[in-house]
Amino acid sequence: MAAYKLLLLPGDGIGPEIMAEAEKLVAFLSAAGVASFETEKGLVGGAAYDAHGQAISESDMALAQSADAVLLAAVGGPKWDGVPYDVRPEAGLLRLRKDLGLFANLRPAICYPALVDASSLKPDLVDGLDIMIVRELTGGVYFGEPKEITDLGNGQKRGVDTQVYETYEIERIARVAFELARTRSNKVTSSEKANVMKSGLLWREVVTALHARDYSDVKLEHMLADALGMQLVRRPKQFDVIVTDNLFGDLLSDVASMLTGSLGMLPSASLGGADATGRRKALYEPCHGSAPDIAGKSLANPIAMIGSVVMALRYSFGLGAAADAVDKAIADVLAAGLRTADIAGPNDTPVSTSQMGDAIVAELKKILG
Ligand code: IPM
Ligand code: MG
Repeated sequence: MAAYKLLLLPGDGIGPEIMAEAEKLVAFLSAAGVASFETEKGLVGGAAYDAHGQAISESDMALAQSADAVLLAAVGGPKWDGVPYDVRPEAGLLRLRKDLGLFANLRPAICYPALVDASSLKPDLVDGLDIMIVRELTGGVYFGEPKEITDLGNGQKRGVDTQVYETYEIERIARVAFELARTRSNKVTSSEKANVMKSGLLWREVVTALHARDYSDVKLEHMLADALGMQLVRRPKQFDVIVTDNLFGDLLSDVASMLTGSLGMLPSASLGGADATGRRKALYEPCHGSAPDIAGKSLANPIAMIGSVVMALRYSFGLGAAADAVDKAIADVLAAGLRTADIAGPNDTPVSTSQMGDAIVAELKKILG
């Protein structure tokens, strides 16, 4: 049986609580003989800062480099508001993305039938929703230089961030989007602000050329990012795959997530380029943050974290059938009425983080017989 090395980075806030539920699932999959997973644990974010004054240590970076996949829960919290900028909790996550070369961030927004009423939109607008946002993750304004605040000496300061993209960066992320579209509804919406940004203009040019060259069988449309934000809340089911840059992808994926009922539902995969053997470096994490306000109370929804394990099964380990089974377990548990507080209706009695995790594993056990 294949043996895979997983690095677990629980991080901060609700991170350790939801990671514990992912661990239950991983342990069950190993025990059930789906695959054998070896897990190691490291620190990232505020937890790493508290332990060694860095947002992630060199030894944990080395573990991340050698792992078959990294599972990360969440980083950040008000406790670290005052720490120096380059060791703030988010710096650990950004370093992982950059140093592992994880340029492709896949953020699915799927509305489970049982949660149609938890969405902020009318049920018929989101029923059956299935969008994949492909966010560029190692470029753009997140990493562009210069990135600084300078003192102008006259009582004024200047803050600068740089939005920059090169052809190869746009081409490789667009390729991921086109390939994914072919396995789905065969449509890509590419989004930028070509009307005001040079990098947006180049983005549109490169995507158009790649489409004509290699993917003319896929339907391609271009939509300005502001208009896309509007269309996402107006008629979200018009979209299949959306490909966009790092910053627009950050914003639009938060919007898309609320369509599905709760930010607590959405997993993500961050993938690097394929090496000579076809393997990709990969990190899987929920789209949501560390939710310090509910940390330690067993209120957090573990589904985005468990869904991140599902994405690992699918994209890193080629275990599509197992991934489908866990997805079905999640849908079944929701259909049976189980709700954590974030997705509970007025008549539901919310379950705890671990009750939700236990229920999903128990349902999976039934499904796998
Ligand atoms: C996300 C988060 C991160 C980002 C933060 C925590 C740095 O919002 O993954 O969407 O901005 O990329
Ligand atoms: Mg975000």
